[in-house]
Amino acid sequence: MIERRTGSDQAFDSMASAAPLAAEAPARAPRVLLGISGGIAAYKSADLVRRLIERGAEVRVVMTEAARAFITPLTLQALSGHPVRSELLDPEAEAGMDHIALARWADQVVIAPATADLIARLTHGLANDLLTALVLATQAPLTLAPAMNQQMWAHPATQENIARLVARGVRLLGPASGSQACGEVGAGRMVEPVEIAAAMLPVSGGGLRGVQVLMTVGPTREAIDPVRFIGNRSSGKMGYALAAALQQRGAQVTVVAGPTSVAPALGLECVAVESALEMEAAVMGRVAECDLFIAAAAVADYRPEAPALAKIKKDADSIALRLVRNPDILARVAALDRPPFTVGFAAETDQVEAHARAKLKAKRLSMIAANQVGAGEGGFESDRNALVCLWCDGRRELPMMPKPALAAALAALIEERYGAQTAG
Ligand code: C5P
Repeated sequence: MIERRTGSDQAFDSMASAAPLAAEAPARAPRVLLGISGGIAAYKSADLVRRLIERGAEVRVVMTEAARAFITPLTLQALSGHPVRSELLDPEAEAGMDHIALARWADQVVIAPATADLIARLTHGLANDLLTALVLATQAPLTLAPAMNQQMWAHPATQENIARLVARGVRLLGPASGSQACGEVGAGRMVEPVEIAAAMLPVSGGGLRGVQVLMTVGPTREAIDPVRFIGNRSSGKMGYALAAALQQRGAQVTVVAGPTSVAPALGLECVAVESALEMEAAVMGRVAECDLFIAAAAVADYRPEAPALAKIKKDADSIALRLVRNPDILARVAALDRPPFTVGFAAETDQVEAHARAKLKAKRLSMIAANQVGAGEGGFESDRNALVCLWCDGRRELPMMPKPALAAALAALIEERYGAQTAG
C-alpha cells in the first residue's frame, strides 16, 4: 500500500535512501530516475548512467529542454537502454509510460546536474516541464547534485532555495569546489558520477571484505591452426558484472578471462588466457589462495586433438577434425582436498532446474546459478537474464533483469550463502 507522507517522513526517507542495499538478494533491480537539467556538467550525466547501472540499478532518464543543448537524448538512451523523455505532454509516451507511471516507477530520483533555475523551480513547486512535474508527482526520495557558477551557488536566492529544499527532506550531494568550466574557482562543481552512484546505491557493509575471489570469465578459443579456432558466444558480460559486484561488496577479485570485448572494472586483477588448458593452468596455479571460486566462463568442452602448426589449406573437399575432451576446471577445483566455496553456472535449454541440480551434485558444488538459453529473452549475448540459484538444501529465483542488476543480486546471494557456510 502506498501512503502519502509528511515532510518529516520524507526527510527520513531521504536518509533511508542512503541505507545500504539489503544483504538479502533483492527481488528486482533498484529503479533510479535520473533527471538532467541544462548545465555544462550534463556531459558527466552519461557517465552517471553507466555508474548507476554498474551498481545494479535500472535507470530511466528525463531531461529538461535546456539539458538537450548540452547532451543528446540518444547518448542517454543508448546507455540506459530506454527512451529518454523531455516532454510533459508527449502523446506517444503518455500512452505507454505516462509521467505519473514514471513517477510511481522510481524508487529514487536524482537530479544531476541540478541548475540554479531548476532548484528555484523545485523550491516553488512549479510543474512547467516533465522533470518538475515528476518531482511533484513522485513519492520517491529526491537527491540533488547541484552544478553552477560559484557566484550563482553563493547567491542568497539559491542558498535560501536550497535551505528550503533540504528542510523538506531533499538530499544534497555537493557541490564540490574547484576550477569551473567558466574559468572561475569555487563551490559549484557537480560531484563526480562515481561518488553520486555510490551515495545513491551503497552496497551493504562489505560482507566480503578480505575474501579472495577467483573467477573464470568469457569464452575459450581452441586452436585448429594458427589462424582458426573453435569458440563460443559467451560475451563475458555477466562474469565481469559479477566481478564488479563482488568487488563492491569488499572482495578482492582475480579474473582469469578468455578473449572478450568487455572493459573490466577498475581494480580488477585480470589474467588473460585463450584456451581451456591455459585457463585451467591459470586457475590451478592460483586456487590455493582463494576462498571463493566462481566459474562463469563458457569453457569449450572439446579441443582439436592436434592443432596444425601451419595454416590448413583449402585443397580437400572435406576435412575431419578430431576433438578431445577438455578438463572440467570447476569440477577439478571442487574435488580438491580443501576446496574453496565453489559457484558454477549452468546454461540449459530444457528442464533447467533438474539439470542444474544434477550438476550441483555431480560436480559437488556449493552453489549453482542456472538459466534458460535458446528460448526468448536472456542468455549469452543478451543484456538481460534471469537465474535460478540452487544449493544443497535451498533455492532462490532471481527474475529477468539487466545483467548488472542480476549480477548485483547474485553477488548478494553469494555473500549470504558464503557467510552461511563459513558460519556453519
Ligand atoms: O557441465 P557444464 O559445462 O554445463 O557446466 C558448466 C559450469 O562448469 C560452468 O560454471 C563452467 O564455467 C564450468 N566448466 C568448467 N570447465 C569446463 C566446462 C565447464 O569450469 N571444461
